[in-house]
Amino acid sequence: MNKIRTLTTVLLSSALLAGAWAARPQQASGDEVTIKVVAQRFHYTPEEITVKKGQAVVLAITSLDFVHGFKVPELGIRADLPPGKVTEVRFTPQKAGKFDFLCDNFCGSGHEEMSGRIVVVD
Ligand code: CUA
Repeated sequence: MNKIRTLTTVLLSSALLAGAWAARPQQASGDEVTIKVVAQRFHYTPEEITVKKGQAVVLAITSLDFVHGFKVPELGIRADLPPGKVTEVRFTPQKAGKFDFLCDNFCGSGHEEMSGRIVVVD
């Protein structure tokens, strides 16, 4: 009887652990760094994102109001940002510098000003 109880406990614990594992938020693997960004007419928050050269980065971007775009021409990055979901943009900067990003989906009167900057430090 005790054996069965122990076995049941072990199985239950395993199931709980597995469940907890699966329920974890999508954590970056390895040493990726996740940075949350919010897009909203007509700006991004934060507007300046500082990362380290060689550091794998995940930008977890949420739009609050529109399908904004996210484009970093010099890094060859672009994504659509449909509202109501988190869009993940992955990259590993290979050189230090300042790289402007911008919204490339027309989103209204302030569209042209919707921009920001990624600063890659050594
Ligand atoms: Cu946001 Cu154009």
